[in-house]
Amino acid sequence: MTAKRQLFVTTALPYANGKFHIGHIMEYIQADIWVRFQRMQGHAVNFVGADDTHGAPIMIAAEKAGKSPEQFVADIAAGRKEYLDGFHISFDNWHSTHSPENTELARQIYRDLRDRADGSLIEVRTIEQFFDPEKNMFLPDRYIKGECPKCQAKDQYGDNCENCGAVYAPTDLINPYSALSGAKPELRNSEHFFFKLSDPRCVEFLENWTQDGKLQPDVANKIKEWFSVRTNPDGTKSEGLGDWDISRDAPYFGIEIPDAPGKYFYVWLDAPVGYLASLKNWFDKGGPKAKHGDSRSFAEYMAAPDTEQYHFIGKDIVTFHTLFWPAMLKFSGRKTPNNVFVHGFLTVNNGEKMSKSRGTGLDPLKYLSLGMNAEWLRYYLASLLSSANADIDFNATDFENIVNSHLIGKYLNIVSRTAGFITKQFDGKLASAYENELAEVQAIGMYATLMPDIRRDLERRDYAKALKAVVTLADIANKYVFDHEPWKLAKDPNSQARAHVVCSTSLVMFRLLTIALKPIIPVVAEQVEKFFGGHDLTWQDADEILITPAGEKAVNRISPKVMLPGSKITDYKHLMQRVDPKQLEALFEPPAVMESAQAAPETIANALPGGEAMAETITIDDFAKIDLRIAKIVNCESVDGSTKLLRLTLDVGEGKTRNVFSGIASMYKPEQLVGKLTVMVANLAPRKMKFGVSEGMVLAGSHQDEKANPGIYILEPFPGAQPGMRVR
Ligand code: 2FM
Ligand code: ZN
Repeated sequence: MTAKRQLFVTTALPYANGKFHIGHIMEYIQADIWVRFQRMQGHAVNFVGADDTHGAPIMIAAEKAGKSPEQFVADIAAGRKEYLDGFHISFDNWHSTHSPENTELARQIYRDLRDRADGSLIEVRTIEQFFDPEKNMFLPDRYIKGECPKCQAKDQYGDNCENCGAVYAPTDLINPYSALSGAKPELRNSEHFFFKLSDPRCVEFLENWTQDGKLQPDVANKIKEWFSVRTNPDGTKSEGLGDWDISRDAPYFGIEIPDAPGKYFYVWLDAPVGYLASLKNWFDKGGPKAKHGDSRSFAEYMAAPDTEQYHFIGKDIVTFHTLFWPAMLKFSGRKTPNNVFVHGFLTVNNGEKMSKSRGTGLDPLKYLSLGMNAEWLRYYLASLLSSANADIDFNATDFENIVNSHLIGKYLNIVSRTAGFITKQFDGKLASAYENELAEVQAIGMYATLMPDIRRDLERRDYAKALKAVVTLADIANKYVFDHEPWKLAKDPNSQARAHVVCSTSLVMFRLLTIALKPIIPVVAEQVEKFFGGHDLTWQDADEILITPAGEKAVNRISPKVMLPGSKITDYKHLMQRVDPKQLEALFEPPAVMESAQAAPETIANALPGGEAMAETITIDDFAKIDLRIAKIVNCESVDGSTKLLRLTLDVGEGKTRNVFSGIASMYKPEQLVGKLTVMVANLAPRKMKFGVSEGMVLAGSHQDEKANPGIYILEPFPGAQPGMRVR
């Protein structure tokens, strides 16, 4: 075996502002297949991920949710495991960019860039930026809106117009306003920190790093354009590599820049550092030692010349990973990634834009909750993925065909047709004396030829190509069985031995195919390993399938290592169900409210007074989990330091009162509410807020987009209701 490789592998870190969507899962499956393939060859892999937690959008989303950003990202993190386990993604570690490791590493990388002996690569410049006087903060471009300077379309974002496609600076907008408060933004000066990517040292390094042949050719070509000074189609000039603004002003949820109070790293500075932070956390926990006896420290591992570093990412974040990140590492005196593997986008059902309300999206948790097998998806996606960064499309019909006809109809068919004979007629043992007849040598000879190709294609991430060869080999096995008809042979006492050889040979081919498929369908592979007696299949099991004896006329023989003469198998149990078309129908079924709709569903959702489509159907048991009670508002007061909240003292008949904060100050004066009855969620976990603990929630109606459609109305029961009565 070749020397053990030391591989450090990551996927892009997901923003901690939402659940995983199918695009995340696709990337994780792509990387996980590669990682499992490497582990099967005996290489030592550290495969890590983390949540990308910082930045203005997350800070604002947390505020909207009434949570601290820390709590907000922690809640998102708590939901990750269900997806990762559900789709068998074998990360060694999952961490967070909001962590001590990341803070320390990001600051150290920054200091190393700043304090370079041959001249600093950090520069401070004063820039003019829009400031929201109500929110008291500088506004990121996407939170500034106004009229498009070109087509005058209203409510366009600060960087480009969705109506006419024009690209401009936020300062070009007509009548700009803050999307956060609606206030008119003011231009103010602020000091920003820049990473001098235009410095000749960086340019020279990056031109080489991106063009030396390691990157996918189309990726490298695209990057080449970014280095050149050129005229764009619209007549504007592009300058080549510009410097990168790496700082943001407080308030910002992020890492404070050393020696610069009130200045924070822009989220994209500390995000990729999160790869290292997660790896460091994994080392500090002793993971590599326990897993592969590696007792080095994180620093030693990263400094070792044979450590290889690979990042799986989507094509939308190539700039960050092929320019900023390698430059950060290189000029802070660290090793740069060995490669960045870029994939395209995933669309669903013929490239329709994914949209929940239209029901075309593929919700990963819904997929699992319908009892759909995660390995169907892994296999299907693998059949679409190549090493090119092409877009792929999940097509329901195609999915059903590929899974049912290839995975089940071809691969699993081999074992389900012949295993029974071995168990019933041959005492559960594979043939011990076999003839090395031409038919067997020929059939297995094709495995000897194609298994190395499959191995090469898996290494190159050409999974689609590898699976084509798997299908070819499965066809060969099925034809072999079909041609030799073991069910007939087994009936005749004179051909028992032959029947035994045919069934054994087909199982041996099935076992070889399982080696090829193990990275893609690891759970089935584990069952197959048990079926063959429990040995963990590795790629060594597929080395030397044929032996060529010495001597001129000698014919190839099948290696006993592959034939496993006389070895025992266990009873065969069905390994996988077929895809049921009903499951696919349910998966893509639009939410109930849409079914009766004639017009485009999104238009209807927008037109509803609440501005949103009905939620998915729940059962009465789901509803019963929520304990709703009639509550009496015994006291109500405004909250110092908050314009939104009122503090309610509620009696729900427990012999004590509860303290509840509610965001209804814009609608009600405290004295209007005292003495009234309302409805509250009484079994909501208490939540710590800036102003105290909230012990429940009162119910109120509002539009989904409260900014555009203000108004929030609390519920009041008909006369006769008593505090403490349950609402059901
Ligand atoms: O585009 C994104 O979803 C980013 N959160 C990816 C970050 S990758 C790495 F740099 F952390
Ligand atoms: Zn426009």
